[in-house]
Amino acid sequence: MRVPLLDLSEQYRALTPAIQAQVAEVLETQQFILGPKVKEFENAIASYCRVNHAIGVSSGTDALLAIFMALGFGPGDTVIVPSFTFFATGGCVARVGAKPAFADIDPASFNITARTVEECLHRCRQKGERIRAIVPVHLFGLCCDMDPLMELAQREQITVIEDAAQAIGAEYGGRRAGSIGAAAAFSFYPSKNLGAAGDAGLIGTNNDELAERIRLCRQHGMHERYFHDFIGGNFRLDELQAAILSVKLPHLDEWSAARRRVADVYRDEFTARGLTNRVTLPAEPYRDSGLTNHHIYHQYVIRTERRDALREHLTRHEIGTAIYYPMGLHQQKCFSYLGYRDGDLPETECAARETLALPIYPELTREQQRYVVDEVAEFFQ
Ligand SMILES: Cc1ncc(COP(=O)(O)O)c(C=O)c1O
Repeated sequence: MRVPLLDLSEQYRALTPAIQAQVAEVLETQQFILGPKVKEFENAIASYCRVNHAIGVSSGTDALLAIFMALGFGPGDTVIVPSFTFFATGGCVARVGAKPAFADIDPASFNITARTVEECLHRCRQKGERIRAIVPVHLFGLCCDMDPLMELAQREQITVIEDAAQAIGAEYGGRRAGSIGAAAAFSFYPSKNLGAAGDAGLIGTNNDELAERIRLCRQHGMHERYFHDFIGGNFRLDELQAAILSVKLPHLDEWSAARRRVADVYRDEFTARGLTNRVTLPAEPYRDSGLTNHHIYHQYVIRTERRDALREHLTRHEIGTAIYYPMGLHQQKCFSYLGYRDGDLPETECAARETLALPIYPELTREQQRYVVDEVAEFFQ
């Protein structure tokens, strides 16, 4: 048996006629830039994410960049981000000339917490830095514990920008990912739960003024053709991508529910096989606090000290896996100028050594899942 890490072909087969009709319509009208399909998609997704404004952009990276530019972050500003995240979270801070400060993670959720952010804040303050924002990343589809983070940010008068690139539709205490902070970035990279046919992204916000500024920022800060109020970029969402995303959006909840069922089967199978003392399964935090915690399982990430050997074993048996992420951002060569050392963020570094993403997607069969668990069991025998 072969089990790929992700297989999108079945999803496409089910939606082929609808997608092709939408694409044909755009081609017929020849309206490729900020036309009716973008507007329609923005309206639908604003209501899905429960935000007042949704602004379609060219990628999740550009969503972060446009937010930071619209808020005027720049030299002299420090922005707190997790070290255990995709590069864009920290990269975009540096691109606007601000300084990323890396917070460690909670080892169970893989997310930053009020405690790790407070430690980071303290270090920054000791160096006399001006902290402008915190960017919690809802990693792998699980929301950060946002209430304590929002309280901390309010107390310190710091803006919170959610990086919800991996978490569209995830919930925290009944609120949707991306509707809690001042603004949020989403990604529709093809492998995301809601994936485009190329690069695409979105910004969500409830702030009218910020939404207006971000809309301008998306088109070079231009309020009227060739009149530029400030410097932005070309961050527009393609009409073709919007048309395709509009076909997929109505299926998103059903796909995320199917991913949760896959996660439940993994949990049952790993538990039944007595493997939970060998691998740590994804956490389901906040349960005891009574908060609803609605994980969308963008990735199913386990941890084990024998990660690399397990990965080799699974690869030999044609099971796809991935390592998100092999090192913390604070260890990346391009951030060496910030002066971090190995050992500075121990939980991030440990997660980078121990985590392994297993196959997860809505159409993954029980047989395929059983095969994955069989092979993990075989490895640990
Ligand atoms: C946490 C996080 N932030 C930002 C991004 C950037 O999104 P994009 O790839 O659409 O530019 C990603 C994409 O993988 C991500 O996972």
